Amino acid sequence: MKIVQLDVASADSVEAASKITQAMIPDGLDVLISNAGISKGLEPVLSLSDDLYLEHFVVNTLGPIGLVRASHSLLDKKATKGVLAVTSIVGSVGMVMPEFTSGYGLSRAGLNYSFRRLQQELSPEGYSVARAHPGLVASDMRQAFYEGLEPEIRKQVSLIAPDESASAIVQNVLQELKNQEL
Ligand SMILES: NC(=O)c1ccc[n+]([C@@H]2O[C@H](COP(=O)([O-])OP(=O)(O)OC[C@H]3O[C@@H](n4cnc5c(N)ncnc54)[C@H](OP(=O)(O)O)[C@@H]3O)[C@@H](O)[C@H]2O)c1
Repeated sequence: MKIVQLDVASADSVEAASKITQAMIPDGLDVLISNAGISKGLEPVLSLSDDLYLEHFVVNTLGPIGLVRASHSLLDKKATKGVLAVTSIVGSVGMVMPEFTSGYGLSRAGLNYSFRRLQQELSPEGYSVARAHPGLVASDMRQAFYEGLEPEIRKQVSLIAPDESASAIVQNVLQELKNQEL
């Protein structure tokens, strides 16, 4: 396994990582998975600062768009042309969660919209663009959500392990993207 570090909030960092990756895998990239995300300041809509709204937007919405832009030429080299964004049902306008998720939810709604658009825009080039909610996963981010919940509600929420979530995404989503190659 090879690891290339990058900060999705920095165009320079994404570009530098893209150059390293192009040298590392000149034959192309099968599938791009955008997984990075932040969730800060679990406050009501009217209380969250503009700075925090913007920070979420930069990392959680523009970040995944920038990754696709930077990986486009590498993805073009392979038949799979798979793109997956790990997003959240919190970004669904029809779903209201018990916790305060103003900045996070808005940024994920933006991600869901932009990747739905990308699916339409890139499919003529042979791309499959998918979005997946990973479930309620026992991670650092979920821990922070947990702490913001009323104890009674907290008791009703059960979490899945990160490897269980990742396996389900591989099985149910990535395999489907790879099958598009056939
Ligand atoms: N956990 C859940 O229940 C849940 C539910 C729905 C959706 N999700 C989504 O699942 C994904 C993974 O979240 P998680 O629960 O595993 O959260 P997490 O434990 O907080 O991990 C977030 C990851 O994103 C990385 N990251 C944050 N900002 C970044 C940046 N600017 N550039 C590059 N990487 C950055 C972090 O890297 P560092 O460690 O280096 O900071 C970390 O690896 C996120 O997209 C989240 O929205 C999670």
